[in-house]
Amino acid sequence: MAVTKPRREAREQQSAEVSEAQIAVHWQEEGYYSPPKKFVAQANLTDKGILKRFSLDRFPRYFEEFAALLDWYKKWDKTLDTSKPPFWRWFVGGRINACTNCVDRHLAKHRNKTAIHFVPEPESEAIQHVTYQELFVRVNEFAALLRDFCGLKAGDRATLHMPMVAELPITMLACARLGVIHSQVFSGFSGKACGDRVSDSESRVLITMDAYYRAGKLLDHKEKADIAVADAAKDGHKLDKVLVWQRHPGRYSSPTKLAEGRDFTVNDLLAKYRGKRVEPVRLPAEAPLFLMYTSGTTGRPKGCQHSIGGYLAYVTWTSKNIQDIHPEDVYWCMADIGWITGHSYIVYGPLALAASSVVFEGVPTHPDAGRPWRIAEELGVNIFHTSPTAIRALRKEGPDEPSKYNHRFKHMTTVGEPIEPAVWKWYHKVVGKGEAVIVDTWWQTENGGFLCSTVPAIHKMKPGSAGPGIPGIHPVIYDDDGKELRAGSGKAGNICIRNPWPGSFQTIWKDPNRFVQQYYARYCKNPKSKDWRDWPYMAGDGAVQAKDGYYRILGRIDDVINVAGHRLGTKEIESAALVVPEVVEAAVVPVADPIKGKVPDLYVSLKTGLKASEEIAKKISAAVVSEIGAIARPRQVIIVPDMPKTRSGKIMRRVLAAISNHQDPGDVSTLANPEVVDKIKELAR
Ligand code: PRX
Repeated sequence: MAVTKPRREAREQQSAEVSEAQIAVHWQEEGYYSPPKKFVAQANLTDKGILKRFSLDRFPRYFEEFAALLDWYKKWDKTLDTSKPPFWRWFVGGRINACTNCVDRHLAKHRNKTAIHFVPEPESEAIQHVTYQELFVRVNEFAALLRDFCGLKAGDRATLHMPMVAELPITMLACARLGVIHSQVFSGFSGKACGDRVSDSESRVLITMDAYYRAGKLLDHKEKADIAVADAAKDGHKLDKVLVWQRHPGRYSSPTKLAEGRDFTVNDLLAKYRGKRVEPVRLPAEAPLFLMYTSGTTGRPKGCQHSIGGYLAYVTWTSKNIQDIHPEDVYWCMADIGWITGHSYIVYGPLALAASSVVFEGVPTHPDAGRPWRIAEELGVNIFHTSPTAIRALRKEGPDEPSKYNHRFKHMTTVGEPIEPAVWKWYHKVVGKGEAVIVDTWWQTENGGFLCSTVPAIHKMKPGSAGPGIPGIHPVIYDDDGKELRAGSGKAGNICIRNPWPGSFQTIWKDPNRFVQQYYARYCKNPKSKDWRDWPYMAGDGAVQAKDGYYRILGRIDDVINVAGHRLGTKEIESAALVVPEVVEAAVVPVADPIKGKVPDLYVSLKTGLKASEEIAKKISAAVVSEIGAIARPRQVIIVPDMPKTRSGKIMRRVLAAISNHQDPGDVSTLANPEVVDKIKELAR
């Protein structure tokens, strides 16, 4: 794969004028908190020698400790193959199945232990406790259906558009058993967004559910499947079958009709597969396990391809040692399985360790902000994992709620965004009752698992900082010229990882060139080199490193906005706005929000002669929701007479971001149309 140094324009984009980093909160360095003694006494990883053992001179051998946590049909011959940089191959020659590692191997000791606690949103509906034995039975029966009814086999793709129900991990594991590559699309995404992912992954089968509960309503979800099928057809891609799980088995809960010959109710079909067992496929370690689409700098999301062996080894080790999961723990990660956090830290990591993992259908603050603590108390959850956005919302709506319940967490995680020290302290004192250790984990869809975090029984915690690289991960911060910024320099730069690691995505589905250009080209020391040292991975985040080696992540350096811990591409939202015929130009900027971290403001200009109106603004907002999903809904749509532009015609998003964030837009005299800035200021809130 040829590496070209990024063009100047692309480089400018990567040190983006409008970066989240620029409008990131700048809080002070905080003092340390020690991990509670009680936690340390029971922790999986307490040996400080690990930090030395995992130093770069022992790379890549130390990652064998990760793979050793799994059961292999055949051990690997080569730990790391670097012959085709940067397409690293891990545990080459090994044969493995992810499903047996998460299910079958636990039966001997944990058959009757709960694997999944499914917590329906309505409190009137009983919690379901799916044991490992039941999981085994249900996964096998569904795998038989996928194989025999749908004709799916290893290497085929299946798109899943499922809500947070027990059937989602069952579906993923059934795919994994067969080697079918699953591509789960977040259920809150629109039918159109799902259709785009169906056609990109060329899935012949879409697996969905008729309906699910959210904030007290039973939402029709099947209607999105019809839109997805139609959208994929527009791209020239035909879906053979749509499998529809029933939210209430035995009853179809959607007003949308089933299309004959195409749509099938899983719960009916399953009757034929009762008692069926499927021999797990012995797959190469580097065969893909799943695709996870995420936003980048272009309008189209990219499918991050994750491997079986490397990925599973990575999430299992990090679940054991950073999440401190023991088989007797009840673990609740409140993310959605539709995002990478849910794949790695609700499904694959915890189940590989035989933990009990909670799958919660609903909204944490519904019907009130006491709900999560009631669930934790009822199930005896002792490890809790969520995002700063959820913590901020729970703190705002029920600051004293956690004190009313008898839950006891030994360990808590935050993920997905920077967490303000004040919010961290509430989490620690009120949610964790001062007894829980906290890890602030930094990573991305591309990475498979945590990159930076404290090791909970070894490192002290520091509110507002993620911590050092986890054992085996060696981060570095480069400035724009590729010079290393030293710890304690006080300067922000681009955070990169010096070494490959097994959890990393293998490529972008059908776009290996973009994989190289976007993540490796910028700091590649020698495009011809086969030495991994010449290929640092660029994450796309701005960061600073304090003297103690802890990293503080400031935010994206590219055109990605992190809304409530979810990644959205500004270009994706802009393309959605441009679907509206009245719109000629669109620019999206991130705005700081007290709960969600960031939200998008959408600036548009209309065709000549058209007048701005509330109606057009609403139409544009609705287009964004139907193209992407409600999470992308702009805070406001601002119809401007003209965009602020450079003389070469480039939209100055920096100026728009400053206006939206009530900051000084700086010197605008060099713009082609400086007079427009004051007009825009009057229009924006
Ligand atoms: O900007 C960083 C932010 O979330 C981005 C990755 O988003 P996504 O791929 O959706 O994965 C989210 C969950 C892994 C990163 O580029 N981010 C993630 N974790 C943190 C964070 N920012 C600050 N602190 C974190 N702990």
